[in-house]
Amino acid sequence: MTEPFLIGDTMTGGYGKGPDILHGCTIAVEKGEIAVIVGPNGAGKSTAMKAVFGMLNVNSGAVRLDGEDITHLTPQQRVVKGMGFVPQTSNIFTSMTVEENLEMGAFIRRDDFSDTMAQVYELFPILKEKRHQAAGELSGGQRQQVAVGRALMTKPKVLMLDEPTAGVSPIVMDELFDRIIEVARTGIPILMVEQNARQALEIADKAYVLVQGRNAHTGTGKQLLADPEVRRSFLGG
Ligand SMILES: Nc1ncnc2c1ncn2[C@@H]1O[C@H](COP(=O)(O)OP(=O)(O)OP(=O)(O)O)[C@@H](O)[C@H]1O
Ligand SMILES: [Mg+2]
Repeated sequence: MTEPFLIGDTMTGGYGKGPDILHGCTIAVEKGEIAVIVGPNGAGKSTAMKAVFGMLNVNSGAVRLDGEDITHLTPQQRVVKGMGFVPQTSNIFTSMTVEENLEMGAFIRRDDFSDTMAQVYELFPILKEKRHQAAGELSGGQRQQVAVGRALMTKPKVLMLDEPTAGVSPIVMDELFDRIIEVARTGIPILMVEQNARQALEIADKAYVLVQGRNAHTGTGKQLLADPEVRRSFLGG
């Protein structure tokens, strides 16, 4: 088996000196693919993402990016290595304009990032239209576009999204999924948490169900959609 492009491998750990939240949890994404993490509230999905991004200490296990052990790097060092992360909450600067948010996203770049900004505006045309508006004035779906756009500004080699469709209507959700698939097709593998489990599994090359900080089910999106136990417990039958 080849090593996935990004892997949080058998991670155990929690917040500060608190109890372990993750218990040997593994999540990963391969080049050219979309990997999806689903599971009940409080299962540790966000914690697993934060562990992969270096926002909490893992007591055991490792994080590797393109074969390199990055377990002990800070989040900012991981961004420099090519990781983009959109957290579940507080993922935009609400008092700044859309364009300022994108500029903030490019904070590690010393080169001219106007091409990347043009690409983000091409992917999310509404952001170009609203580029001089405060991001906090935008709708939920548009804010999520700002957050994803901001993460794209570093030209990441892999993108991690924690509930990119939270709080948006089904139509907006479909649109966001289409844009996410489009990003994946440009060659950026995507590791994302989703609460819309059925729709997420439909677009997932690889999928993980986490329960209480552990891997409960792993497979292709299709396999998990067809798994009677997954259907009964997580997809409403
Ligand atoms: N900053 C924190 N400090 C301490 N404990 C935390 C912190 N964030 C989350 N937890 C705890 O970790 C556990 C897992 O939470 P986490 O946010 O990872 O779950 P989740 O699967 O992302 O849930 P949701 O679907 O609601 O987003 C919960 O028991 C939660 O209370
Ligand atoms: Mg979460």
